[in-house]
Amino acid sequence: MGLLARKSITELQHEAGETGEGSLRRVLTASNLTLLGIGAIIGAGIFVLTGTAAALYAGPAVMWSFVLAGSGCLFAGLCYAEFASMIPIAGSAYTYGYATLGEFVAWIIGWDLVLEYLFGASTVAVGWSGYFGAFLHRNGIDLPAGWMSAPLTVEGTHHLTRVPGGVMNLPAIVLILLMTVLLVIGIKESARFNNVIVYIKIAIVLLVIGFGFFHVTKANWHPFVPPNTGGFGNFGWSGVVRGAGVVFFAYIGFDAVSTAAQEAKNPQKDMPVGILLSLAICTVLYILMSLVITGLAHYTTLNVPHPVAFALENIPALSWLTYLVEIGAIMGLASVVLVMLMGQPRIFFSMARDGLLPPVFGKVHPKFKTPYVTTIVTGVIAAIVAGIFPVAILGELVSIGTLLAFVIVCAGVIVLRYRSPNMVRPFKTPFVPLVPILGILICGGLMAGLPGETWYRLIIWMGIGFLIYFFYGRTHSKVQRGIGAATD
Ligand code: ALA
Repeated sequence: MGLLARKSITELQHEAGETGEGSLRRVLTASNLTLLGIGAIIGAGIFVLTGTAAALYAGPAVMWSFVLAGSGCLFAGLCYAEFASMIPIAGSAYTYGYATLGEFVAWIIGWDLVLEYLFGASTVAVGWSGYFGAFLHRNGIDLPAGWMSAPLTVEGTHHLTRVPGGVMNLPAIVLILLMTVLLVIGIKESARFNNVIVYIKIAIVLLVIGFGFFHVTKANWHPFVPPNTGGFGNFGWSGVVRGAGVVFFAYIGFDAVSTAAQEAKNPQKDMPVGILLSLAICTVLYILMSLVITGLAHYTTLNVPHPVAFALENIPALSWLTYLVEIGAIMGLASVVLVMLMGQPRIFFSMARDGLLPPVFGKVHPKFKTPYVTTIVTGVIAAIVAGIFPVAILGELVSIGTLLAFVIVCAGVIVLRYRSPNMVRPFKTPFVPLVPILGILICGGLMAGLPGETWYRLIIWMGIGFLIYFFYGRTHSKVQRGIGAATD
């Protein structure tokens, strides 16, 4: 068997049906899954990056950046939904890749998803720490600065240097460790905690939109697409495109729904609902929210770490909302961290079950029925990363990693339609191959817009992954030994 060895879909479906000792618990409903999606989506993107993208690249037309990034995600989401209904297994895009494009591509996706989930959790935890520190400060509590900031920062676009006095980002570390404990205790408990936060988060976003609309200054929207100030990406329509690359981060997370497939009660029907509904709800909220924010404050003033609160502070009648927004951001970002930390262990879990990682990673806790070894390993590494690295480096790595996974999933849908046209697909991506091709073009385009340094880091990360695969995975893989391999 070679690098193109595939896992048989019948075998995958058989694994999905396993119950009993060593298997995960099927408890999540369609609404749990939708809320999980929203829990992972609404976070640092809308609360922080909207302001940056509006102020630096797109102006009020950041709304169009959200439409563009959202349509790339919609096309990718439609492809995810087909796979998630057909192969409802914990590993998400990794597993889809294994069934369609072969073991090597599957490994690439699995390794790449670490960037999305593990590094994603770290990135958002760092953003959380910023809001948390500001909130404490407003209430008269100041933690020592050295323990609130990473010891490393970026100089220019790629140079990591020491921050004088920076020790580690302790709040980010503590948040990740707390979420890890919750995840070890149980998926149902974690989902319940997530549901409560998601309702609060949506309520706060709706309040901002609802009250904000009555106070917008229409002049702030003129010109809606500020004229280009020279060069690609500096306002004008090219600025909208660059803005889309930045706000793409805000959409990351809908695919996290697909990592919980093995814990869904009725995955065939509910996975597509969870993925697409959470994405649709967030897209509408984002478009409205970006309109309100750029209507409340002039876009040139929005390049601040807390643009939503800042825009509200401009309007005396809305100052009461500022406080709620801060609390919403603190709780909302925590739930993003939770869902990201839930996704990663389930991918490691699938990789271990396939023999690509050591068997210990495939262990399920005898009492809690959670993949506790991978949950703890993920939590500890994510905490270390969040404690020492700056948010700028982490955020772009997360975006490029996620976009790569989206591109591969879109390609996978086309490949499988040709290879196994008659397979049962409870949900079918519409207009194949048009939708996957558009997904590939938009996501690929957003990748191309990211800085060269981010590409180097992606390549180095992948290089490390190749070493692990060739020295461990390839020789231990079950499929390579003929177990569960596709024969067609
Ligand atoms: N979409 C998530 C956020 O914006 C990652 O925080």
